[in-house]
Amino acid sequence: MTAGERVSSIASHLGLKGKMDAGVSVFNNVPMAPPDPILHLNTLYKADPNPHKINLGVGAYRDEQGKPWVLPVVRKAEHIIIEDPALDHEYLPIDGLKTFTEASVRLILGKSSPAVLENRYVGCQTISGSGAVRLGAAFLARFRKAPIYISKPTWGNHRAIFADAGLEVREYPYWNPEVRGLALKELLDTLKSAPNGSIICLHPCAHNPTGVDPTPEEWKLIAEVIRDKSHFPFFDCAYQGFASGDLDRDAGAVRYFVEQGFELLVAQSYSKNIGLYGERTGCLTVVTRTPEQATAVRSQLCKLQRAMISMPPAFGARIVSMILNDEKLFGQWMVELKTMADRIITMRRELFNALSELGTPGTWKHIVDQIGMFSYTGLNANQVKVLIEKYHVYLTDNGRISMAGLNSGNIRRFAEALDWVVRNVK
Ligand SMILES: Cc1ncc(COP(=O)(O)O)c(C=O)c1O
Repeated sequence: MTAGERVSSIASHLGLKGKMDAGVSVFNNVPMAPPDPILHLNTLYKADPNPHKINLGVGAYRDEQGKPWVLPVVRKAEHIIIEDPALDHEYLPIDGLKTFTEASVRLILGKSSPAVLENRYVGCQTISGSGAVRLGAAFLARFRKAPIYISKPTWGNHRAIFADAGLEVREYPYWNPEVRGLALKELLDTLKSAPNGSIICLHPCAHNPTGVDPTPEEWKLIAEVIRDKSHFPFFDCAYQGFASGDLDRDAGAVRYFVEQGFELLVAQSYSKNIGLYGERTGCLTVVTRTPEQATAVRSQLCKLQRAMISMPPAFGARIVSMILNDEKLFGQWMVELKTMADRIITMRRELFNALSELGTPGTWKHIVDQIGMFSYTGLNANQVKVLIEKYHVYLTDNGRISMAGLNSGNIRRFAEALDWVVRNVK
C-alpha cells in the first residue's frame, strides 16, 4: 500500500472527507476591552497636530527639552557589556542574575539590614515593577489566602494585577481632598477594621498618583496597626531615589518595617530611577523570619516564575548589576538620579510660583509639598476635559499631572491654562 492509499484508507475508516470549510470563528464572542486610560491618552496626544501640546499623562522622565533621557551611566554600562568578549545569550537562572538580585536586595533593605545580616531574604528578578507585583500577588494568592487592601486612589494597574492573580481586592482611604493630603485617620480606621491577617499594599515613597507620602511618625502608626492586626505588608517601590534624590531616604519606610521585625514583600522597579522603562528590569524582595523559610519561599517563587515567564530577560539586569556593583558607576548614578529628582522639584516650585503670581483661586501649596513624578492637582474631570480640548494639555481625568512633562518652555503656558480652567470651569 502506498502512503497516499494508507491516508485514504484511514480517512474512509474514520468517516473523514479530507477537505473542510472554515467553520465558525472562535473570536466572534470576544468583546472589545476598554482602552488603558493612560496609553489611550498618549495616543490622543500623539495624534494632536497642535505644536504647543503638552503631555502630562505618561509617567516617564523627560528632560528640559521634553525628550526621554538615557542616563550617561547607562550608556557607559551598555558599552562595557556589549564589548565584553565573554558575553553570551544563554538563559539566566529562573530567579535571575545573582549579582543583580543580591545588589537589589541591599539597595532596598540596606547593607546592614538585619534581614541581610541574618540571611533571611529572597531576591527574585522580575519583569520590572509590574512583574514583581504580579509574582508577589501570585505567591500570596497561594500562600496567604486573605484580601488585599490597596490605597484609594492608587496606581491604575494594582487592582487589575491583584484581581488577575485571584486576590480579593479592597480599598483603604488615602487622599483627603479637603486638606489635599493624607487621610490618616480614615486609613488607620480601615486597617483596624480589616479582617486580621489582611495583605496591605503600600507605596513606600512617591505615592502614585497623589505624590503624598506618610511622614516617619505616620508610618509608625501605620506599622503599629499592621502589627496589632497581624496584617502582611506588601510594598510597591517604583521610585526609590527618584522621589527625593536620596536612595536611603526613599527606602526609609521599608527599612523601618524590617527593623521592627516584620516579614514582608517589596516590588522594586528600575524603570524610573535608572530609566530602563522598556528593558523591564525589576526585583521582588521577600523578607522572612528564618533562612530556611527564605529557601522554601525562593523555591516556590521559582516554580511560579517558571510557569509564567520561564526566565527573566538579561540585558537590563546586566546594566543595573554593573551600576550597583561598581563604586565609580554607582557614584555617577547618584549624581544623575539627583539631576532627575531636582529637575522635578524645581518644576514643582516654578509651577507653584506661576500660580501664585497669577493669583489662581484656591490653595496650591500641595504642588510643592507632594513628592515624586506626580502631582495630584485637585482638578476635576470637567476641568481636565477643557484642558485637553481647549489647551491641548493632556492629563488623566483624576487631575494627576506628571511633573516630568513640564519644562521652562511650557510651564507658563500650562499655569495660564490651569488658571483659566480653575476660574471658568466647575
Ligand atoms: C506604583 C507603581 N508600581 C509599579 C509600577 C510599575 O512600573 P514598571 O513595570 O515599569 O516597573 C509603576 C509605574 O508607573 C508605579 O507607579
